[in-house]
Amino acid sequence: MGLTPLLSLYLTAEYPGKGTVLNGVSLDVQAGEILGLVGQSGSGKSTLALSILRLLHFKGGSDSGSILFRETDLMKASEKDMRKLRGKDISLVMQSPLASLNPSMTVGNQLLEAWRAHSKLDGTQVIMETLRQVSLSVDVAFLNRYPTQLSVGLAQRVLIAMAVLHKPALLLADEPTSALDALTQAEILELFARLNRENATAMLYVSHDLLSVASLCHRIAILHEGRIVEQGEPKDIFENPQHEYTRKLVNAVPTLRFKSRELIPA
Ligand SMILES: Nc1ncnc2c1ncn2[C@@H]1O[C@H](COP(=O)(O)OP(=O)(O)OP(=O)(O)O)[C@@H](O)[C@H]1O
Ligand SMILES: [Mg+2]
Repeated sequence: MGLTPLLSLYLTAEYPGKGTVLNGVSLDVQAGEILGLVGQSGSGKSTLALSILRLLHFKGGSDSGSILFRETDLMKASEKDMRKLRGKDISLVMQSPLASLNPSMTVGNQLLEAWRAHSKLDGTQVIMETLRQVSLSVDVAFLNRYPTQLSVGLAQRVLIAMAVLHKPALLLADEPTSALDALTQAEILELFARLNRENATAMLYVSHDLLSVASLCHRIAILHEGRIVEQGEPKDIFENPQHEYTRKLVNAVPTLRFKSRELIPA
């Protein structure tokens, strides 16, 4: 493409007792692009997301390599600089929304707190606009609700609203729909597509499910045994997979086949 990527990383990560999880993973995300990162459970997807945010040590892991974000190497950034960046320039949406929200704080106060973490200005207007953008109610009754009073789909929208409040250049989405039913999952996927369209937010969208990311992502990277074994546009991944593991993934995608069943006469 010839453009400088928004994010360009080369990463090795390990856990004591577990060994190397990511073994020289190389990835680029262009500005405004949604890159899907697909790999099976345990392949190191969450490890990669935590590493980008420089949070891996909280899980006891260690990493090395380089993480160029806007040409600054986050691997060398101070914790102070990372704190300015997390939730503002790079945000994270995680898998279980109810576990990610603070149960003792109302929706409104959590949004306000997320706003105040990076701004001294009055956030009311931005919060209202963001709630509308993620199709949430802006009325007081809703803002006064606690997370336990929300369905998991609504809770995920609140979490997404918090993540995009400061219009980050990059959103890390770590299996954000896997706790949701199929219909809610489709709505949330559509929401990510809209945020990408309207705000030009680039995304690293992590999933174990090749099919669910196919329509959302501009490109897909396949993570297997600590490395990116293949990357390309969804169409090419599905129609012409190059790596044996990718072929397995593509062949495992369910296709609907209906066979009419005959009643066995009594
Ligand atoms: N704190 C830890 N200590 C030791 N090993 C860990 C730790 N956290 C994760 N692992 C191991 O590292 C590997 C990668 O874990 P990770 O959570 O990144 O995988 P994942 O691709 O996100 O999986 P999932 O799809 O299930 O979320 C797994 O084998 C996991 O068991
Ligand atoms: Mg994970």
